[in-house]
Amino acid sequence: MDGNGRWAEARRLSRSEGHRMGLRATRRTVEFFARSGVRVLTLFAFSSENWQRPRAEVNALLDLFVTAIEDELPELLEKGIRLRFIGLRDPLPEELQRRMAVAEAETAVNDTMTLVVALGYGGRWDILQAAVRWVRESASAEPEPDAFDGFLSTSGLPEVDLLIRTGGEQRISNFLLWQAAYAEFCFLDVLWPDVGDRELQDALNCYMHRQRRFGRTASQAEARNA
Ligand code: FPP
Repeated sequence: MDGNGRWAEARRLSRSEGHRMGLRATRRTVEFFARSGVRVLTLFAFSSENWQRPRAEVNALLDLFVTAIEDELPELLEKGIRLRFIGLRDPLPEELQRRMAVAEAETAVNDTMTLVVALGYGGRWDILQAAVRWVRESASAEPEPDAFDGFLSTSGLPEVDLLIRTGGEQRISNFLLWQAAYAEFCFLDVLWPDVGDRELQDALNCYMHRQRRFGRTASQAEARNA
């Protein structure tokens, strides 16, 4: 969800104000994909590297997450959306951790869509923690990619089909490194607070026109999808 900072700076506002406006775009995005029938939406809200940002910005973001969970929970419950968080929780403030756990528990039976929020998340961290657990828990078995999936923080979720990055950036920035192995990428040259239904529909349209081959030839892929 890139571009909150630049959006704010262009208006001589604080970066934290940009994140507050970013939250509005986040709400629109969740509504859009829920309406579109998307079953799993993952939002990269705070990376393991974002801890290095100025303290004031980090604190404002953490406060924003607490408020967002509290404000959005009734709507998630009403829409049947399940909330799940991925990332390293220990460094997060206790109050935030508590609200995350409550929101996960309260929405656990919902099945319209799963909204995954990556908070304190890093793709390398995820692979490393999965490897450590895999060694501890099944050290005698040969590592199979499918079995390894079960140790990742995204266990039970499908692989990434479409990865959208906003703000004109064209990097993966330590997002779902393992899970996005065969993802289609869509780069939007729009700052996150300005993202709306039109841009999101453009991304979906772009995805619909891709031929997914998973290492096969074009004709093999066509035969498989027929
Ligand atoms: C990256 O833009 C954005 C973030 C680090 C924060 C994203 C968080 C939100 C939009 C709030 C969503 C809340 C929930 C609970 C999902 P940037 O600051 O790097 O912008 P820049 O590229 O312009 O500097």
